Amino acid sequence: MQVDISTDAQLLHYIITEDPAEMEALFQAARATRERYYGRKVYFRGLIEFTNYCKNDCYYCGIRRGNRNVARYRLTPEEILDCCRRGAALGYQTFVLQGGEDPWFTDARMVPILSGIRREFPDHAITLSMGERSRESYAALFDAGANRYLLRHETADAAHYSRLHPPEMSLPARMRCLRDLKEIGYQVGAGFMVGSPFQTPAHLLEDLRFLRRLQPHMVGIGPFLPQGDTPFGREAAGPLALTLRMIALCRLLLPKALLPATTALGTLSPLGRERALQAGANVVMPNLSPLGVRAQYALYDNKICTGDEAAECRACMERRILSQGFVPDLSRGDYHGISE
Ligand code: 5AD
Ligand code: FES
Repeated sequence: MQVDISTDAQLLHYIITEDPAEMEALFQAARATRERYYGRKVYFRGLIEFTNYCKNDCYYCGIRRGNRNVARYRLTPEEILDCCRRGAALGYQTFVLQGGEDPWFTDARMVPILSGIRREFPDHAITLSMGERSRESYAALFDAGANRYLLRHETADAAHYSRLHPPEMSLPARMRCLRDLKEIGYQVGAGFMVGSPFQTPAHLLEDLRFLRRLQPHMVGIGPFLPQGDTPFGREAAGPLALTLRMIALCRLLLPKALLPATTALGTLSPLGRERALQAGANVVMPNLSPLGVRAQYALYDNKICTGDEAAECRACMERRILSQGFVPDLSRGDYHGISE
């Protein structure tokens, strides 16, 4: 079966379809596309959740500032570097420093942390995921050694965006950040949640159209999952099949994109990440955070891998990748066509 997504109507059709034959054709096409550019390789990123302080109050997120039930932590620069060392010993060549929007991590504090990692690991990729900052700040962090930046747009519909976030946050501000990051020279990751409250198929179509315009290097797509202490704590989780269709459509629209099989998918369903690989995903992000803080980085309830040592996570991910006929690849896994 041919998969034609050249018009918006066709895209919308594949967003919505529950027809098993059409879904299989979509996943098959996505697999073929990823294979053309990346073969059967699946890249590893070591994830370091370095702070769960956040000045924002996103309605869906468990570490929102309004959540009094979170024990807050910040890793020290030395602890962050130790995580990188552990990751390097496991063979990872990409470190992802992810955190809430924590004002404590000013440029004056981040720059020495990044230079320290750079000094010890000149050839590794450093990815940041720490929210919205000024263009000057993004530039300073880039100059200090960061190569990539993940900042999900969350939804490309401004009205929907304002139903997921408090008034002081806006879609134009997010888009300004993504544009700045790209212009500065980062490999940029956007992304969105599937099945977030109030989301419609038209919103998802807008997400795909937005991604086609932005041409990001990476796209993080995972299901919305409720977190009990948030305003959306009693909402339903995003559907698995819809999340997989969005990954596959993203693969077809952005053939060279790096697409993670997200932890949220693995939390939603025991084989969720495996199914993401079969729908065109080609990245996994095993956790490198110290065991003692893992449970406190709870964006949503029942998050998996909070009790596993980094080495176990690597072995577990390798098994999962091999079980699907793919090949774990520990190289940097840059966007094809970019060497830095
Ligand atoms: N369910 C799923 N994903 C979530 N994120 C935050 N909260 C949730 C949730 N409740 C995602 C957001 C954010 C990324 C780091 O985690 O998309 O950008
Ligand atoms: Fe961490 Fe499976 S990836 S235990």
